[in-house]
Amino acid sequence: MEFLAPEWHRQLPSTSTVLLERLRQGEVLPSGFVLAAHEQTEGRGRHGRRWLSGPDRDLTFSVLLRPATDLPQLLSLPMAVSLALAAAVAGRGVQARTKWPNDVLVGGRKLAGVLTERDGERVVVGIGLNVNASAEDLAEVGQPATSLCLETGRQHGVELILAEILLQLARWTRLWEDQGFAGLRSAWMGHCVGVGAPVTIRDGAIWRRGLLLGFGRHGELLLGGVGTEPQPIWSGEIETWD
Ligand code: BTN
Repeated sequence: MEFLAPEWHRQLPSTSTVLLERLRQGEVLPSGFVLAAHEQTEGRGRHGRRWLSGPDRDLTFSVLLRPATDLPQLLSLPMAVSLALAAAVAGRGVQARTKWPNDVLVGGRKLAGVLTERDGERVVVGIGLNVNASAEDLAEVGQPATSLCLETGRQHGVELILAEILLQLARWTRLWEDQGFAGLRSAWMGHCVGVGAPVTIRDGAIWRRGLLLGFGRHGELLLGGVGTEPQPIWSGEIETWD
């Protein structure tokens, strides 16, 4: 997939909310359109959580995709995005891991988050990356978090990082569109936390515990229990891993 030069705004409530709203109002935008904001006032995370970011401090943007794929394949789109983010920060010397299905961590602390929302055949992928946040800034987040600045000991320009991420996104989403999870499998296995270990998976109010055996054809998580067949998990996220 190819991405266009980002449409940058000084301030938006949320790049994902605004992009979805523009689509619903009938604006015709091409696949690969990128909406970025130097500041979000109402950033959204997954499960109705807030996404906190600072003005000119962190990277917040959303991309529009019209993937020519079936529904099961969409499950692994956030995994392709997470791998693209890990590849982009590796270019700045940061070795990140992924957490099924769509988090990017360094040393168990969250560096970036991905929010995928579907509107018919259109998908809006919102990405938040902690760039220049200090430990004090991140104390507000409510979960262990880190930033590129904390990991590298220097400040980073958000516009340049976005350009680097878009190059990686083009590469990983192309691979994903052509091959689905099969194209991601080996990189995913090399990056995902908890593989082969006991994990806790949370899907809303449902908690499951078992051994993370691996991933199925579409990227569904395979959870093992004592004396039971591997159970495919299609939604939720890893909460704890040993
Ligand atoms: C998560 O880990 O909970 C997902 C966080 C996604 C945050 C990004 S920032 C850009 C886009 N706009 C939003 O309001 N949310 C996403």
